[in-house]
Amino acid sequence: MRSFVYQGLPSRVVFGAGALAQLPQAIEAMGARRALVLCTPEQRASAERVAQLLGDRAAGIFDRAVMHVPIETAREAREVAQRLGADCAVAIGGGSTTGLGKAIALDSGLPILAIPTTYAGSEMTPIYGITEAGLKKTGKDLKVLPRSVIYDPELTLTLPVGLSVTSGLNAIAHAAEGLYSAEGNPVIDLMAEEGIAAIGRALPRIRASAGDVEARGDALYGAWLCGIVLGSVGMALHHKLCHTLGGSFNLPHAETHTVVLPHALAYNAAAAPQAMRRIARALGRDDGQAARAVFDLAKDNGAPVALRDLGMKAEDLDRAGEIALQNQYPNPRPLEGRAIRALLQAAWEGAPPA
Ligand SMILES: NC(=O)c1ccc[n+]([C@@H]2O[C@H](COP(=O)([O-])OP(=O)(O)OC[C@H]3O[C@@H](n4cnc5c(N)ncnc54)[C@H](O)[C@@H]3O)[C@@H](O)[C@H]2O)c1
Repeated sequence: MRSFVYQGLPSRVVFGAGALAQLPQAIEAMGARRALVLCTPEQRASAERVAQLLGDRAAGIFDRAVMHVPIETAREAREVAQRLGADCAVAIGGGSTTGLGKAIALDSGLPILAIPTTYAGSEMTPIYGITEAGLKKTGKDLKVLPRSVIYDPELTLTLPVGLSVTSGLNAIAHAAEGLYSAEGNPVIDLMAEEGIAAIGRALPRIRASAGDVEARGDALYGAWLCGIVLGSVGMALHHKLCHTLGGSFNLPHAETHTVVLPHALAYNAAAAPQAMRRIARALGRDDGQAARAVFDLAKDNGAPVALRDLGMKAEDLDRAGEIALQNQYPNPRPLEGRAIRALLQAAWEGAPPA
C-alpha cells in the first residue's frame, strides 16, 4: 500500500467560455472593494476591459508586468496599490503578470484574483519568484496563492500558436514531474494524467485553428490541472534545469521547458517506469516511451526542439551543467555530472531523446 500526504490548496475557480463576465461576482465573493488591475504593456486592452467590468471597484491599472518580476517593478506596483488604496489585485495575463501579483501579495498580503491567458499554471501555485541584481529568488508562501481564478478560454484565442504550443508543454512538464515527485500521491497522479491528456489532445487542434474555442478550453482545463500538480508536489531535475537555463542564461521560459522536457524524462525513464507509462498513455502511446511522446508532440506542432535555436551558446553548456548540480532538487535518478552534461548536449543539438 502506498502511504502519502495530500495537501489541498484553497482557491475558488470559475471556468468556461465567457466566464470573465462573472468577475463582479468573483470580486464580491472575495469581499474586495477596490481592485488594482495588473497586466503587461501588450495586454493593456484586456486590462481595460477588466477595469470596465469592475466599474467603481476598479482602483486603476498597472501595466508594467514583465518576465521574471524585477524587484523594482514589484516595489513600484506595491506603492501604486498602496497609494490607490487597493484591497485586492486582479492579474490578467500569463505567468509574468500573475508573478507580479504574487510579489505584491508577498509583501502586503493583498488577495489576488487571477485571470490566466496562457497555460503556465502559476495561478494554482503558492510559488513566487522575484529577480534582484540579476538573480531570481523563488520561494513558497500560501499568502501568494490567488484566492480566486477565472479561466475563460475566449481570452486565450489571441495567444499566438507558437506560444500556445510551448506554454502547453510547460504545463505538461509540471504534471510529468509531479508523477515522479517524492511528494506525489494518487490524487495528484489523477490530475497529472488527465492534465497531460487534455493538453495533448488540444495542441494539434489549436495549431490547426487558433480560434477553436473547444480546443482552447481543453488546453486551459489541462493547464489548470497541471498547475495544481506543480503547486501541490515538488519539482525535480527538469524544473531545476529550466530554472538554471532561464535564470543564468536568460533563455525564454516556455520554449526552454519544451526543449528540455523530453531529455529530462529520458534521464529519469529507468528510475520512474510507472510515471513514464502514465505520461505516454496520456499522450496516446502504450509503449511507455514518455520522452519520445513529448518530443514528437513538440516537433509535430512546430515547437523548437534545440537549445541552440533559443540562443544558448555551446560554450555555456559546461557551466549550465555545474549550476544544475548545485542545490539539487530530489530526483528519481541521482544527478550524475557526466550524464547531465550529455543531456544538455542532446537538448542543445535537438537530438531525439536517448
Ligand atoms: N510561480 C509559478 O508557479 C510559475 C509557474 C509557471 C510560470 N511561472 C513564471 O511565469 C513566467 C512565464 O509565464 P508565461 O509563459 O505565461 O509568459 P508571460 O506571462 O511572460 O507572457 C508572454 C507574453 O505573452 C503575452 N500574452 C499572454 N497571454 C496572451 C494572450 N492570451 N494573447 C496574446 N498575448 C498574450 C504576454 O503579454 C507576454 O507578452 C516566467 O517568469 C515563469 O518563471 C511561474
